[in-house]
Amino acid sequence: MKQKPIGLFDSGIGGTSIWKEVIKLLPHENTIYLADSKNAPYGEKSKEEIIALSIKNTEILLSKGCKLIVVACNTATTNAIDFLRKKYDIPFIGIEPAIKPAALLSKTGAIGILATKGTLTSKLFEKTTYEYTKNITTIKQDGEGLVALIENGKLNTAETHQLLSTYLKPMLNFDIDHLVLGCTHYPYLIPQIKEIIGSSIKIIDSGEAVARQTKTILEKNNLLSTSSEKSNHQFYTNAEIEVLSEILSDVSGHFSVEKQDF
Ligand code: DGL
Repeated sequence: MKQKPIGLFDSGIGGTSIWKEVIKLLPHENTIYLADSKNAPYGEKSKEEIIALSIKNTEILLSKGCKLIVVACNTATTNAIDFLRKKYDIPFIGIEPAIKPAALLSKTGAIGILATKGTLTSKLFEKTTYEYTKNITTIKQDGEGLVALIENGKLNTAETHQLLSTYLKPMLNFDIDHLVLGCTHYPYLIPQIKEIIGSSIKIIDSGEAVARQTKTILEKNNLLSTSSEKSNHQFYTNAEIEVLSEILSDVSGHFSVEKQDF
C-alpha cells in the first residue's frame, strides 16, 4: 500500500501548482494527476455538478490504485470534499483559500480574496470567513474568466493583464495588505498580479500548507513511501496536452503526459 501513488485532481492544469509543492516535500512519492480541462471551469457550475465531477475523478484515481487523494482545487474542495470523505474510505486532502493566516497577519485590517464563484458562494467558505475575519474587512472578488485564459495558455497576455487589473485595482482602495489566491490556477499569474498590486501587498496561497498536510496524513496512516527508487509521475488530461506540458516544462524527473477521454 505504501508504494501506491498519491492521486491529485483539478478542473485543469491549476492543481499542478499544488503538485509541485507536494513533490518538493515528498520526493519519493509516485503520483497520478488528472486535469479535467474538458469540464473547466468548475467555478461556474452548480454544487451538484461539482460533486458529480469530483466523484468521476475520484473513481478514476481509485481505479489506478491511489492510496490518498489531494483535491487540488479550491472549488471542488469547498463544494465536494465532505461528500467524498463520507463516500470513500481513503484519506482526502483539500485546499481552501488561506483566509486564516491572511487575517491573523493583517496589520491594515483589510484583506483581498480572489477566488472562483463556486468557492466564494460555498458553505465552507462562508464558515471560514465568519470564524476568522470578524474584525477584518474582506474584499472578495470572483475571478470569472481567469481560469479559461490560463487553460488556453494565455498566462502572460494583455487580455489576462487587463482582466486582472479590473479585479484587483478596486481592492487597492481598501488598503489591503494581503491578497489570498483562492484558486489553484492563480499562482501561475503571480508575476502579472505583482505588476498590478505592487510588492508591499503579500500574496498568500495554500500550496505549501497542503503539501505539509499531505505528509502529516500519510505519516498518520502509515502510508509514506519507503521506496528509495526514483519517483514516477503520470499526468492525464482530457484536453490537448500542449498547455499542460508547457506548465510542466520546469519539472525535472520522470513523468509522462497523456491525453485520455474521461
Ligand atoms: N483550480 C480550480 C480552483 O482551485 C479552478 C476552478 C475552476 O475550474 O473554476 O478553484
